[in-house]
Amino acid sequence: MCGIIGRVDYRDISPNLIEGLRRLEYRGYDSAGIATLDGGKIRVVKRAGTVDRLAEAFRSSPVRGTLGIAHTRWATHGGVNDINAHPHVSCDGKVAVIHNGIIENFAELKSSLRREGHDFVSETDTEVVAHLSEDILREGDDLMQTGLKLAKMLKGQYALVIMNSDNPERLLGMRHNAPLMVGVGRNYSVYASDVLGFIDETKRAVFLEDDTVSVAERNHLEVRSLGGLPRDYKVVDLAEELGSPDKKNFEHFTLKEIHEQPGSILRIMKQDPGKVTLFRKQLEEAKRIFFVAAGSSYHASMLGKIYLSEHMGLYSDVILASEYRSYERWFDEGTVLVAVSQSGETMDVLEAVRAGKEKGCSILGVVNHAPSSLERMSDTVVNLRAGQEVGVAATKSFTSQVALFYSIANKDIDDLEVESISRAVSDSLAQEEAVKSIAREIASSKDIYFLGRGKNFPLALEGALKMKELAYLHAEGIAAGELKHGPLALIEKGTPLILINPDDETHDDTISNGMEVKARGGVLIGVAPDTHGGYDYFIRIPKVLPDHYPLVVAVPLQLLAYHTARLLRANIDKPRNLAKSVTVK
Ligand code: AGP
Repeated sequence: MCGIIGRVDYRDISPNLIEGLRRLEYRGYDSAGIATLDGGKIRVVKRAGTVDRLAEAFRSSPVRGTLGIAHTRWATHGGVNDINAHPHVSCDGKVAVIHNGIIENFAELKSSLRREGHDFVSETDTEVVAHLSEDILREGDDLMQTGLKLAKMLKGQYALVIMNSDNPERLLGMRHNAPLMVGVGRNYSVYASDVLGFIDETKRAVFLEDDTVSVAERNHLEVRSLGGLPRDYKVVDLAEELGSPDKKNFEHFTLKEIHEQPGSILRIMKQDPGKVTLFRKQLEEAKRIFFVAAGSSYHASMLGKIYLSEHMGLYSDVILASEYRSYERWFDEGTVLVAVSQSGETMDVLEAVRAGKEKGCSILGVVNHAPSSLERMSDTVVNLRAGQEVGVAATKSFTSQVALFYSIANKDIDDLEVESISRAVSDSLAQEEAVKSIAREIASSKDIYFLGRGKNFPLALEGALKMKELAYLHAEGIAAGELKHGPLALIEKGTPLILINPDDETHDDTISNGMEVKARGGVLIGVAPDTHGGYDYFIRIPKVLPDHYPLVVAVPLQLLAYHTARLLRANIDKPRNLAKSVTVK
């Protein structure tokens, strides 16, 4: 969601700001804007739509300068239009603000600012920050004092970067429950909501702690707590593996990431056995275990729950992070929260973790995007090291999460088993041509159903989620046994049903459910190691151990959604309305 860049430099930075925004596009957005201090005045160019549209507007009306901010907006308060795009400017034109998050008390602040004579031009919550800053700066406060005063006034969550024309060599940054970091360059500093905002230019970064106010200059950074106490910080070297993402020869990042899975699964299953043992021990000692996650990470956690039950005899529950409040009464000192998040920045997950920490829970974090807020908040953390996932749809991070949970639950896995899983996933990828032809059969359907039992049920949910977000088709994942309890009424002649049907203990029951669908005119697409007379179409997966099926099944389901989306000319890497990192509630 909203991407932030702020830069203080010694040369004209407008091209870098626009490039930085391009690298943050993957987070999801609907408008973009830039402001620089140009000839002593703040000048803004902003547009609803893409960064390309912004770049076009910039070409006809360029702004230049050595100090500037830039933003990609994912609308929360106020429609998607040029005026609501950030940056927002104060009445006196001396302050410009960009923001990720929500200012919850904006309505009260706006009324009192209006009473004092401020004119508002946008419908956003963010604009109040520009007007408040104008008032504080007029009283003669410096940028740091302005930030500390703002922190006392603002409720909600924010990463903010603020520029002021009377401070031509400084930017103010503030963070409270939203990510913000600083890229440290040679004679320049860059605020960004994500390392991708600057990683092509500098590999040195400061991950600002939460609840901090900071002022960045070209060669200096001052950080304070929201209460004003000086805070130390570390400049870290970003690991090589975070490097600039490259599509290689693939048409889309999503396809490249699907094809990376034999390697990413190998990496997570062979990683630091000490960490996996520690994780396992903490689970064994827990009084209560909750997985907390959203979206695909939630589906992976459902498999984690099954693996923990089958291999360790442990009962756990899986909570949708956004629903944690219904279970919060069970959070206490003996409780372990397994917080699972590709981005490590999902607001709902972080909120649940914060609530858990307050009640004394231990936090076991599983992240891919490191460093991240979740990583810093966890007591023990496993980094999936699947590499940057640029496509908004989770693919390799999902299988890495599943592979990790299997490794944690089953302590007898050896290298031979790991390598055989990775080979089987490659074999699944080899079915791409068959999957493509099935995509042609289903692309014109209005509804698609995915059916599975046991470990195949979370896969049915995940397959349907991929179809929705990539191809924009209505899809539902159904537990095979639930079919007769309602969903069967939806089946009509020609309705496609993806039957996830490996040769595990669920096989015979699932085939019967498939036949019930076929008898009502449904078109059966079997995903299985062996074909069956009932299938109208068939995607072959390799024959593997029952525990390995989720990993080999995930691949054709991802490919099916991908190729259907491609036929429908959907925006595959950046599906409409979605964001990679969901940093608002
Ligand atoms: C998956 O394809 C989605 N893009 C989405 O559901 C995602 O899994 C969810 O937003 C959770 O994200 P996280 O893993 O970064 O917390």
